[in-house]
Amino acid sequence: MGPGEVLSYIGAAGDIAIKAGDVLLGGLYNKDKIVEFKGDINLVTEMDRRAEELIKNHLSDRFPDIAMLAEEGGESGDFSGRRWIVDPLDGTTSYAHGLPHFSVSIALEEDGEVIAGVVYNPCADECFSAVRGGGASLNGQKINVSGTSILKRSLLATGFPYDRATSKDNNVDNFNAFILKAQGIRRMGSAALDLCYTAAGRFDGYWEMKLSPWDSAAGSVILEEAGGRISDFSGGPYSIYGKELLVSNRLIHDEMITVLNGN
Ligand code: IPD
Ligand code: CA
Ligand code: CA
Repeated sequence: MGPGEVLSYIGAAGDIAIKAGDVLLGGLYNKDKIVEFKGDINLVTEMDRRAEELIKNHLSDRFPDIAMLAEEGGESGDFSGRRWIVDPLDGTTSYAHGLPHFSVSIALEEDGEVIAGVVYNPCADECFSAVRGGGASLNGQKINVSGTSILKRSLLATGFPYDRATSKDNNVDNFNAFILKAQGIRRMGSAALDLCYTAAGRFDGYWEMKLSPWDSAAGSVILEEAGGRISDFSGGPYSIYGKELLVSNRLIHDEMITVLNGN
């Protein structure tokens, strides 16, 4: 697919993400949200499903040849190398509590590589997007990672897996190590926005474990196109299907790897 074509695809996906985001925003302060539990603490609201339905209908009408992997409905369509990877509501826990920080995330994958992504935050009316090789933008303005060069002056983001109470591999040790070494840490509750905020220089670095492909697909290309570095916890290649995510403005990446490896 040529760059112009990808740009038009992701432009259309951005319009659809904004539509879905506006529907979610409309239900944010509804006190009677219907909440179901997928596990002990992993929940889903009727709005996750409604937003996903809207995205799926619009994308399949407009792009009938592109398959889809979406959080709530799984795989759909005939896969021929390209697919949309969709998180209709990233930040469901915040959303269910009426906390205005969540996003809609749509990525386009071709032959196993994420080639474009869009993440929309309806609460701030901020739309982050990128096409691989074409830079990253926020509401049409180019964005770049920060220039903070040491961990001590860095504001970091992280998150904790849903199995944190039952698994020892729960990120608490990493959090304890970073909280003593960084300027500060935020747990905002939307991995897609954590990636985009790092891309926009609001965070200097972000790490998380046990994410799903739809959490990081769109944000990962936005981060890379904004000049950031992405890897696993050892500095090896990152995969949206892998279990470790480390991103930074590049400058503090090695320091973060050292902390994650217990030195
Ligand atoms: C979650 C958010 C959160 C992260 C969790 C994700 P969801 O996605 O991205 O920040 O810490 O691991 O599962 O469930 O709200 O779509
Ligand atoms: Ca998610
Ligand atoms: Ca979700």
